[in-house]
Amino acid sequence: MKAPVRVAVTGAAGQIGYSLLFRIASGEMLGKDQPVILHLLDLPQAQTALKGVMMELQDCAFPLLADMVATDDPNVAFKDVKVALLVGARPRSKGMERKDLLEANGAIFTVQGKALNDHAARDVKVLVVGNPANTNAWIAMKSAPDLDPKNFTAMLRLDHNRALSQIAAKTGKPVASIEKLAVWGNHSPTMYADYRFATIDGQPVKAMINDDVWNRDVFLPTVGKRGAAIIEARGLSSAASAANAAIDHIRDWVLGSNGKWVTMGIPSDGSYGIPEGVMYGVPVVCENGEYKRVEGLEIDAFSRERMDLTLAELEEERAAIAHLFG
Ligand code: NAD
Ligand code: LMR
Repeated sequence: MKAPVRVAVTGAAGQIGYSLLFRIASGEMLGKDQPVILHLLDLPQAQTALKGVMMELQDCAFPLLADMVATDDPNVAFKDVKVALLVGARPRSKGMERKDLLEANGAIFTVQGKALNDHAARDVKVLVVGNPANTNAWIAMKSAPDLDPKNFTAMLRLDHNRALSQIAAKTGKPVASIEKLAVWGNHSPTMYADYRFATIDGQPVKAMINDDVWNRDVFLPTVGKRGAAIIEARGLSSAASAANAAIDHIRDWVLGSNGKWVTMGIPSDGSYGIPEGVMYGVPVVCENGEYKRVEGLEIDAFSRERMDLTLAELEEERAAIAHLFG
């Protein structure tokens, strides 16, 4: 039996947490032979609800769940963890401006970044799910100077999965047959889902669809506004699909994507005209516990415009919290 891996989940008593924890404990994220110790972080007022979730986890008698730690202290939550899923974040409340939301989350992710810096395993893999995910991931990365910036990522896998299923519906082909899809930029309605390179059974998707108006007026708005459409329909933001995307993201990062392109928000290396350090969604392939950016893709005028738009939004978000870093 392998030694257990410590996995931290923040916002563990929330709705994404409720869809996520049971799947991690059953081995869907790190493999069916990998025991885990769950480190569950939530606010003091959520500890009673968190105890309830832990009772249910116990009642599943998962063979791979070696232990659990519940806490409201990030320094305890991140001790020796190899994987950290930062889900808990401050939601926008009535009357709150976007700037206030960034500020409130800035405070949370500075503290959590520092706690990761001080206590996590040196090769910890961090995924930020809590919104605004890219900027929160950037804040955590900047607050952890002793960790490799490459270990901090933001979740765009939900956008990637949403784009896959829209293309499957349009072409009538199975989701699993679609390769080489990319989503660029911010996890927000400005993100740019790009099927120019995508193939199905080796055939170009762009030629199969052959409809730029559908791309611009249907596909991009549908994928970009999917989160809002779910909130409108459910009265709550996406949870099971978000948890599923988080599982996909970490599983592929740790176990490999088998040559497939997947989308991750990662710190830019300056390629594709994205300034270095910006936490930006790009296509990657994962192998041996590392992600590698897909390089050398041609960026046409329409794509450049879309990629710059989502970049401008990220730079605006970053400017709003820049004062946190002196
Ligand atoms: P939720 O309100 O149901 O749960 C959030 C939990 O986080 C709560 O239990 C809360 O007490 C906890 N929390 C808040 N601040 C915390 C802190 N500082 N430390 C630890 N825990 C804290 O929300 P949810 O539906 O689970 O969503 C969580 C976040 O994920 C939201 O920001 C949401 O917008 C975001 N989200 C992101 C994506 C994505 O694709 N990146 C998709 C869906 C949702
Ligand atoms: C989603 O894409 O479903 C969420 O990020 C929406 C939200 O604002 O929580």
